Amino acid sequence: MNFPSEPFKIKVVEPIRRTTREERDRLLKAAGYNLFRIPAESVYVDLLTDSGTSAMSDHQWAGLMLGDESYAGSRNYYHFEEAVRSIFGYTHVIPTHQGRMAENLLFSTVVKPGMCVPNNIHFDTTRANIEHQGAEAVNAVVKEAYDPHNESPFKGNMDLVRLEETINRVGPDRVPLVLLTITNNSGGGQPVSMANIRETRALLTRYRIPLFFDACRFAENCFFIKEREHGYKDRSILDIAQELFSYGDGCTMSAKKDGLVNIGGFLSLNDDRWAQDITNMLILVEGFPTYGGLAGRDLEAMARGLREVLEEDYLAFRVGQVRYLGDLLDHAGVPILKPVGGHAVYLNAKEFLPHIPQDQYPAQSLAVALYRDYGIRGVEIGTVMFGKRDAETGRTIHPELEMVRFAIPRRVYTNMQIAYVAESIIDLHRRRDGILGLRMVYEAPMLRHFTARFEELDHAMPVRQMVV
Ligand SMILES: Cc1ncc(COP(=O)(O)O)c(C=O)c1O
Repeated sequence: MNFPSEPFKIKVVEPIRRTTREERDRLLKAAGYNLFRIPAESVYVDLLTDSGTSAMSDHQWAGLMLGDESYAGSRNYYHFEEAVRSIFGYTHVIPTHQGRMAENLLFSTVVKPGMCVPNNIHFDTTRANIEHQGAEAVNAVVKEAYDPHNESPFKGNMDLVRLEETINRVGPDRVPLVLLTITNNSGGGQPVSMANIRETRALLTRYRIPLFFDACRFAENCFFIKEREHGYKDRSILDIAQELFSYGDGCTMSAKKDGLVNIGGFLSLNDDRWAQDITNMLILVEGFPTYGGLAGRDLEAMARGLREVLEEDYLAFRVGQVRYLGDLLDHAGVPILKPVGGHAVYLNAKEFLPHIPQDQYPAQSLAVALYRDYGIRGVEIGTVMFGKRDAETGRTIHPELEMVRFAIPRRVYTNMQIAYVAESIIDLHRRRDGILGLRMVYEAPMLRHFTARFEELDHAMPVRQMVV
């Protein structure tokens, strides 16, 4: 089946409040046209992120009631440790309250000023945490990743030539580790192949550099390997995951994605010395090593979520639902990044709005128009998120891709709601000429997309009958 139907039924529902276009227009003005500043209650379909937005299963909710809230040695920690070890296979399991804390602990321990950490493409918090240590964060993904029309099956792969050039440029001693983000979120949720992981490992072994995974969406990556890579069709997802992680020395994980929980993360690694230093820092900033900033019940939900996410029925539906949205848009001629990734569909804003130059934030303008007209919230992944000011000229250096991402929460929306999203985007695409650009009026020095404010350049957008 191309689009498998939901492998679950709904036991609890959360009503959604409907809003009018006028209300949303008012909210946008008050929020400075930044969708992060819009109250979630005023959003109809919220595709801002797939992070921490999953619906938990009845088995996970039941696990919450078994929370052991002891300060030290909670039984839920041992369940969690066992679940992580059985999948990831690394010696040390260090819980954190979310992914960026795992990044912060790792980088503040092993990355020093002047060092360099390559990745296929760094996620924004990963890059920020490395740069915060005074180090360089280099993207070394294959070139196809930057071509939205290229349909290669593994566009998240590391470019081994670029990686080796980077290692030689800075010197292997100044590369404390290399990361692989699976799937590659900032490059469109594209997977990394097992062959590429194996080759990356072999290259790094020659230079004695550790390999770490940014493993947030590891199960989706393994599902793509099973679907697309020769030799994996008959292997279980668990088996594929175990092989994949065996090529690494550790991982950071935001369990808010493929841990199927609303909060939680961890760091897992083999190196005893690094683990000891990280644990000491954990006690300083997060908590005792058997809870790491979480409640016992959260650890239990995470332990159960990590096992559920490996179920093939679930993954076929999950990846299929994302593909369903992508295919509806593609068939209607809406420019999307191809192939469709594991957790999100990305609109190619440069092609959607060719009349808006990059310094007027076309992807942000598109995201704003979709919220105002249909109550749908996506997120800009373009100049607002990744644009940089040139220190000499003060001008913005634009990223290659200018996208709006619609990240689909796990097990939350029905396919009917997804069809509504597709219809809305297709409708907006028909009258795209009326969308106008934005001007940024405030930006923070770091991670500016969360708090930036904008003004609309014009209000000439034509209004049509709204659906919501
Ligand atoms: C690839 C990747 N790495 C790291 C993170 C950070 O995780 P968290 O939001 O749990 O801090 C995210 C979050 O979206 C991500 O997508």
